[in-house]
Amino acid sequence: MPAIVLVGAQWGDEGKGKATDLLGSRVDYVVKFNGGNNAGHTIVIDGEKFALHLLPSGILSENCVPIIGNGVVIDLEVLFSEIEALEERGRSAAKLLVSADAHVIPPYNKTLDKVTERFAGSRKIGTTGRGIGPTYADKMNRIGIRIQDLFDEQILRDKVTAALNLKNQVLAKIYNRRAMDVEAVLAELLSYTERLRPMVVNSALVLHQALDEGKTVLLEAGQATMLDVDHGNYPYVTSSSATAGGACTGSGIPPTRIDRVIAVVKAYSTRVGEGPFPTELLHDKGDELRAAGAEFGVTTGRPRRTGWFDAPVARYAARINGVTDFVLTKLDVLTGMPEVPLCVAYEIDGVRHADMPMTQAEFAKAMPIYETFPGWDEDISAARDIEDLPKNARDYISAIETMIGARISVIGVGPGRDQSIVVHDLLG
Ligand code: GDP
Ligand code: IMO
Ligand code: MG
Repeated sequence: MPAIVLVGAQWGDEGKGKATDLLGSRVDYVVKFNGGNNAGHTIVIDGEKFALHLLPSGILSENCVPIIGNGVVIDLEVLFSEIEALEERGRSAAKLLVSADAHVIPPYNKTLDKVTERFAGSRKIGTTGRGIGPTYADKMNRIGIRIQDLFDEQILRDKVTAALNLKNQVLAKIYNRRAMDVEAVLAELLSYTERLRPMVVNSALVLHQALDEGKTVLLEAGQATMLDVDHGNYPYVTSSSATAGGACTGSGIPPTRIDRVIAVVKAYSTRVGEGPFPTELLHDKGDELRAAGAEFGVTTGRPRRTGWFDAPVARYAARINGVTDFVLTKLDVLTGMPEVPLCVAYEIDGVRHADMPMTQAEFAKAMPIYETFPGWDEDISAARDIEDLPKNARDYISAIETMIGARISVIGVGPGRDQSIVVHDLLG
């Protein structure tokens, strides 16, 4: 099995961290290929909870080499504080490798992310405020700072000076903020250089050599399909390519070497931040599902918006990513619901749409058309075989499987590492 991609099928927080961790002991490399510390991935091992942001979820698997790929944007302060926090808990990050081509989130972009949102008022995106958008904008604008620049002070000085010439104008004249000092920014970035040096590699070359030796590489997405800058609900998206295509550009592994794409999907839907959400439940109903699923952001602590399963979204994700296997998570959260509605299509301006409409203006108007399934009361958290599930739960899963057009290979019945039903081996 050469390279495998793992993505989110909805709006993030599907349980990608747990799914990656599930495979961690059987893969040789786990590569984070997009995003940065806007991500929050939770892994629960023997009751102990870990929240990872910038570090790949494979970091908790002993024999796996975690790599931060070229497609990631790195807040160096966060990188080292996450490493230290893991070490304090007796875990090691000694194998971590970082791409020399990855971009750095400089301090001015964290400030700009926050003030831009504040000025946007009702048009805000609801970003995580981590500087993600401005840093990807700099990358595309060719004024970004890369990890490799930290090893040549003159290059770094030239780049920071050029960037601040522009950014300080924006900060001072548009946002009424104090200009940032080149020397202070340089000193902050350079303070990480020596700690970073042993980790930095030509990660694409490392991965190609690994694949040539028959090693298994898992490419792990942050965010999700509906937050992808091209394929999501633009402009209510993140600024990176969170879909399977992004795994190639964000790691240097070509499409011809990828032979499996796993998508993680929740048994219902959640979303953090602004933007359309057809199946959203408001008021008490939304609160109930939020409480049942403990739906609060791992990164910002914000309450997640909640709603029923949206099959057109999952089917869209199956197509955009070329999904071979789905991991359906949090089925246990639906236990005790008298009935479970499943959105099978949308009504937009009086017309039924089984698939994603052409425009975001239409998607914003989409009203869910539900098929309602009877619920189940049995505790399923100890189920380890599909036959252990109540019939109503199995019927709900089968309906989802038929509608999304790809097999459900793993079903999550609790947050723990072992709380999964494996129907088909994801690496088999
Ligand atoms: P990620 O960003 O996709 O890695 O997901 P998050 O970690 O942000 O959110 C998923 C949450 O669901 C975490 O709190 C996980 O511990 C939890 N989780 C994952 N799978 C399951 C499951 O099958 N059942 C339950 N109850 N919780 C789960
Ligand atoms: P994981 O990897 C859920 C959302 C933010 C906001 C939008 C843009 O844990 O699934 P950004 O800071 O990226 O510019 O914010 O994207 N967002 C996420 N929502 N899970 C995430 O990551 C997210 N990362 C960003 O809430 O709506
Ligand atoms: Mg998350």
